Amino acid sequence: METFTETKEQLIPMPRIGDKAPDFRAVTTQGNINFPEDYKGSWVILFSHPADFTPVCTSEFMTFAKLEGKFGKANCKLVGLSIDGLYSHIAWLRTIKEKIEFRDMKNIEVKFPLIEDITMDIAKKYGMIQPGESKTQAVRAVFFIDPDGFIRAIIYYPLSLGRNFDEIYRALIAMQTADEFSVATPADWQPGDDVIVPPAGSCGTAEERMQGQNGEVSCTDWFFCTQKLEKDKVLETVLKD
Ligand code: BEZ
Repeated sequence: METFTETKEQLIPMPRIGDKAPDFRAVTTQGNINFPEDYKGSWVILFSHPADFTPVCTSEFMTFAKLEGKFGKANCKLVGLSIDGLYSHIAWLRTIKEKIEFRDMKNIEVKFPLIEDITMDIAKKYGMIQPGESKTQAVRAVFFIDPDGFIRAIIYYPLSLGRNFDEIYRALIAMQTADEFSVATPADWQPGDDVIVPPAGSCGTAEERMQGQNGEVSCTDWFFCTQKLEKDKVLETVLKD
């Protein structure tokens, strides 16, 4: 059943995996952006947080800022959003840099854009306002958008739960690996682990699948075939220097 999100003008369907990322223009801490047009050719993680000057969000922003270079090497840019205004964003990011220490992080500068969305127009367009959780703050949404501007994965967390950045990075690399090598990735996959071949939905007959076995492919039944994919091969394909 389709779920709807309420914008200023109308009820529109919540963005879903496989949809074109809804477009918008916005003011950010790094200037104006035209989304997703300005990000063509890159993956983007568009993520929302409930509010500036709150502790869980602060820990998340510091972590994203620390990892920005690592995401960048995987051709992925970061864009944050909350329904606070630009001057709140600027003051919060300055406070983070000047005062906040968290784990091994201090003096952390957030260099990726943080969107101001006081009207909630963008948050509503992306279904980030989930009234059962909060009518006035965005949930912690993570949209993975591919270089062609399509939504490839969405993760939502409630207000009280800080995101797992290892999982966000793992999901990005797994989707890039699936695209590059035409494979699927099993539970808890990490680069270097066996992958699933062929991807779900492209199966031949049982005989064809079993006959197709060669030294690299190992099938334990007609529907369950895996193949080795070296970690170096994955990393040299998806990571850029
Ligand atoms: C936080 O980021 O700490 C937070 C924000 C909204 C509600 C609860 C926690």
